[in-house]
Amino acid sequence: MKRSLLAIVASATLATSAVAAESVEVLHWWTSGGEAAALGVLKKDLEGQGVTWNDMPVAGGGGEAAMTALRARVTSGNPPSAVQALGFDITDWAKQGVVADLNSLAKAENWDKVVPTALQKFSKYDGKWIAAPVNVHSTNWVWANKAVLEKAGVKEMPATWDQFIAALDKVQKAGFIGLAHGGQAWQDATLFDGVVLATGGVEFYNKAFVQKDPKALNSATMVKAFDRMKQLRSYVDKDFSNRDWNLASAMVIEGKAGFQIMGDWAKGEFLNAKKVPNKDFACFRVPGTQGMVSFNSDQFLMFKVGAASAGAQLKLAKAIMNPSFQSAFNVVKGSVPARTDVPNTAFDACGKKGMADLAEANKSGKLVGSMAHGHAVPASIKNGFYDAITAQFNGSMTSAAAAKAMAQAAE
Ligand code: GAL
Repeated sequence: MKRSLLAIVASATLATSAVAAESVEVLHWWTSGGEAAALGVLKKDLEGQGVTWNDMPVAGGGGEAAMTALRARVTSGNPPSAVQALGFDITDWAKQGVVADLNSLAKAENWDKVVPTALQKFSKYDGKWIAAPVNVHSTNWVWANKAVLEKAGVKEMPATWDQFIAALDKVQKAGFIGLAHGGQAWQDATLFDGVVLATGGVEFYNKAFVQKDPKALNSATMVKAFDRMKQLRSYVDKDFSNRDWNLASAMVIEGKAGFQIMGDWAKGEFLNAKKVPNKDFACFRVPGTQGMVSFNSDQFLMFKVGAASAGAQLKLAKAIMNPSFQSAFNVVKGSVPARTDVPNTAFDACGKKGMADLAEANKSGKLVGSMAHGHAVPASIKNGFYDAITAQFNGSMTSAAAAKAMAQAAE
């Protein structure tokens, strides 16, 4: 009797969940023009499959505010179906035992074969897939307004650090803002990714930021990197403090500033403003980091949810990993596909360069995880690095004291 009663209840629950409109709730921080356009591709994809999209945007570049909102939701026992998450933030959540298991879908679709191992390090926990990676961004990019450089007499894109400083100087002397920047810790740290790579190279970067070697963190090379941040500081405008990153991109787009150092999500803003690579703007690697890539992948981490929405959650994961979606989304987002089997045909010149750079860096061992975007150390240490970087950039800490503070943050 008892068993059949259970069977009846179980089938009834299944029936209601099958009938109830499938929906997913997604927490993310994609609120700029370019980001929202890219997210629209995913929303439409899901709605085309009959899945309702409950949007939970939490504005704030780099995702700090989003992670705070997520903590509140999970601790109140009411996690979203999925969240945009970066690197060590993903595996930190996995340790809490609150994430869903995507392994059966991943095995069925052979994700292990098509997703680079550098990403899998964060998409899996205990050998099981828990997140679906949608892209690979990289942070060691410079975006330049070609008309401004022309007017300032900058004939070609700078390839060395000294040529970069000389170009910034010319742009400033011509009456433009040299470097468009937003004074927020995550943005200062995003500059620092490229400056440390340019100053110490991949080996030094890994020793300092991945192995957290105090002798590398508190070293003459790190002091020199901080001195270079001081040089960059002299080219930003007086109103840079707390400016959002996409407003800094707009300064280059509108020809008020010559350069912005920012991850390639900035390209999504140029495309959203209908600007064309190599015509209106140029994209090139932070001078001195050619051949190197500091990457961060946006992954959708899935949380354990009730049976009613588990089906929709798997549809979301499947949609994210669909090769044609990976092309359509990344073309708009400014990133490159997370899957290695997506052709570059739909991508513009900067996108094609991004894909080629990633493949080359991966092959030559020059692919590093972005410290600024959670792919080198966990948030607890990353935030300590942020404090030193932003204090030094704002002039309240010397280069030597900042390097020392970095070593202390890693202990
Ligand atoms: C990064 C994220 C990008 C973009 C950027 C600006 O961490 O990977 O997709 O959102 O922040 O907010």
